[in-house]
Amino acid sequence: MTFPKNFLWGGATAANQIEGGYDLDGRGMSIMDVTTAGSLNSSRKVTYKFPDGKSGKGDQIPQGAYGAVLPGEYYPNHVGIDFYHHYKEDIKLFAQMGFKTFRMSISWSRIFPHGDEEEPNQAGLDFYRKVFQELHKYGIEPLVTISHYETPLYLIDHYNGWNNRKLIGFYVHYAKTLFKEYKDLVKYWLTFNEINTTVMFLSSTPADDSDQAYQAAYQQLHYQYVASAEAVQAGHAINADFQIGCMICGIVSYPLTPDPKDILKNRYDWEQNIFYSGDVQCFGEYPSYAKRLWQEHHVQLDITQDDLDQLKKGTVDLYTFSYYMSSAVTTHDVKRDAKGNFVIGVKNPYLHYSEWDWADDPDGLKYYLELIYDRYHLPVMVVENGLGATDKVQADNSIHDPYRINYIKEHIQAMDQAIADGVDLIGYTSWGCIDLVSAGTGQMSKRYGFIYVDRDDQGQGTLKRLPKDSFYWYKKVIASNGQDLAVK
Ligand code: BG6
Repeated sequence: MTFPKNFLWGGATAANQIEGGYDLDGRGMSIMDVTTAGSLNSSRKVTYKFPDGKSGKGDQIPQGAYGAVLPGEYYPNHVGIDFYHHYKEDIKLFAQMGFKTFRMSISWSRIFPHGDEEEPNQAGLDFYRKVFQELHKYGIEPLVTISHYETPLYLIDHYNGWNNRKLIGFYVHYAKTLFKEYKDLVKYWLTFNEINTTVMFLSSTPADDSDQAYQAAYQQLHYQYVASAEAVQAGHAINADFQIGCMICGIVSYPLTPDPKDILKNRYDWEQNIFYSGDVQCFGEYPSYAKRLWQEHHVQLDITQDDLDQLKKGTVDLYTFSYYMSSAVTTHDVKRDAKGNFVIGVKNPYLHYSEWDWADDPDGLKYYLELIYDRYHLPVMVVENGLGATDKVQADNSIHDPYRINYIKEHIQAMDQAIADGVDLIGYTSWGCIDLVSAGTGQMSKRYGFIYVDRDDQGQGTLKRLPKDSFYWYKKVIASNGQDLAVK
């Protein structure tokens, strides 16, 4: 038996991808509410209006414009899978699978509609209280992400989002409100989802990789690190039992060739994309290589002595991360043709790729777990992992998804080996345990769930929930604490 007795088996989601009810009970708009649907080959766009009434869509809201819902556009996150009205039914299904934990996030604009208010929206607080109580009814421990890709739109329109130091104060006030309100209902908290993607995104996609873009990314990250560190301290003061973690987008990268230049590039990519955020949040200070990273792009940061003190005092208790895939990097002139969450690298000839072209690499998970535990010596949790695939409902309403079972099985085996090798892995929440709106493409047809939701990419469907074959398989895995992985 390698999985510890109290191992936290479960599933993961994010508010904007499941909740819906985007304009109900006093909720304000978030950036995801003005984000359209995309597809495998066309990216999602944000829609906006200028004060003179002109409107448009693009990769971001241009200066002087405001995020706006435009007629004729489809916004899949407005309804999500309507967890807002189905949470009891969904939690009951999670309980049937034997979940020990459920990862969810809180919609910031449901609690503070604009983000800068003093007083929270009571209806928003009440909603999450009911959800947490429902989870506890079945003995399921909530694992809560405070900010999962959905800053209130007002903070973006009126404060320029995380480019503004004032966001630290708004975030900390929001986090403290949650900590006080739910101090007896929630023990596990994550401050920011995939905090490292702000900078990872610049180097790994053909996005804007100018010095100006790096300046903005590193500055935003700095304000988020300080906000996270202040929240960690506030949380511990409110309940000393809180376990508060960072959440990193974990993508393993390998050098494509043994050329020392590729080896060095790979190391520097790890530092910029993965270690930079983990080091600040786990060690409480910027690493020595930060200087090189900043110099490369002529970055000058607004950092105060007080910020540095806060970072030191607000280190996290847990290291959590998402893991879906790996990538390969090279300095040689080859086609950059791999896809993935935030990655366009080089295809690895030793790996298979999914329908959405993401590399399937369970060994990479073992590699990552061992590397990270060795670096930080903190309890680790895999809080996202899974396979996005198309599913077909049979005439008798069954759904056969052996591809998903196989993917998750191989990753559980990798975790098993990492634990045997000494890693203090305390939990695993498979991503999109119930089908949800894809963050990257806005599609419903990219399904991760053990539970199927009847809704398509155009927003049609009954929203009916159906267990897939993987539902019964995962139930068996949890009941045997990870020992029975057999596929019938
Ligand atoms: C992670 C995000 O990057 O990947 C999730 O934290 C997201 O929000 C997940 O849904 C899977 O990506 P996608 O694009 O398939 O939804």
